[in-house]
Amino acid sequence: MKYFTTAYDTPDVLQLIQDAISLKENPNKFSEIGKNLTLGLVFMNPSLRTRLSTQKASQLLGMNSLLVNTSTDGWTLEFGDSPMNGTTVEHIKEAAGVMGEYCDIIGVRSFPGLTDREKDEREEILLQWMKHSGKPILSLESATRHPLQSLSDMMTIIENSKKKKPKVVLTWAPHVKAVPHAVANSFSEWMKFMDAEFVIACPDEVRLNEEYTTHATITNKQDEALEGADFVYVKSWAEWNNYGKYFSSNENWLLNQKKLSLTNDAKIMHCLPVRRDVEIQSEILESKNSLVMQQAGNRVYAAQTVLKKMIESNYPNHSEKITSKQFQNIKS
Ligand code: CP
Repeated sequence: MKYFTTAYDTPDVLQLIQDAISLKENPNKFSEIGKNLTLGLVFMNPSLRTRLSTQKASQLLGMNSLLVNTSTDGWTLEFGDSPMNGTTVEHIKEAAGVMGEYCDIIGVRSFPGLTDREKDEREEILLQWMKHSGKPILSLESATRHPLQSLSDMMTIIENSKKKKPKVVLTWAPHVKAVPHAVANSFSEWMKFMDAEFVIACPDEVRLNEEYTTHATITNKQDEALEGADFVYVKSWAEWNNYGKYFSSNENWLLNQKKLSLTNDAKIMHCLPVRRDVEIQSEILESKNSLVMQQAGNRVYAAQTVLKKMIESNYPNHSEKITSKQFQNIKS
């Protein structure tokens, strides 16, 4: 696995989810596998969970990690043509190349601009990191997808499902501004591999790109969708057809107790950060139905599982070399 940017980068999605659930039982089992390897983490946008869980995952595998927040403490990057006679200071060709010199695997967070749909869909930023770093690339949320979040979400559903085939509803939520589609796209993409009844509830104005939703039942009737649901994933996203526009629905789409009562005592999911009492009622977030902390906790094991696979496939003899070096040290 040279790249992990979508569900399709792994040959067996269900096996990857199972591996992550197993690793959670003994997260210190592979503490030597990443020894002497360096994970670079590039954040072009803010993060709490992804930053910390990926760093923790690398520590659990014995890796070093280097972190740069390019929006606050790196040079302003140029992704386009030269001459660079504007405000940008360093071209991605040099920046990614330099990171490639220092790091063995590079994680990149690059949100969409939400102004040019084709540009965002092409994943230009992520592709340039791949091209110019020459190193395996791990998506920490890109313009279109958030695969580490989705892996964690799938783990959480399996861990909590009481049914062989649960009803899972992804419901759009109000927000105060236009929010990227990545988490919703990605959740839908990964749900394709799950044995579940999958429904997406959203106003017509914010229907997602069909590329991610062909397997889903889509409705603009939230109450009907929630009936009998076992899991409800709450998320806001911007308009797709009228690309990047903020859809200011009234608060009727807020997930509240009345709506929760329509469900099969559903477990409530959200990737966080969440706008309390705008997207979900606070009371629900603090209730026994909420899985948001478990989802966030699972981010560590999701990242650890993917990093382990990337190490095994890109540096295949690495852990053997370490074992043999340790053996030599013991002998001498
Ligand atoms: N869910 C998630 O990716 O959180 P952060 O944006 O804080 O990393």
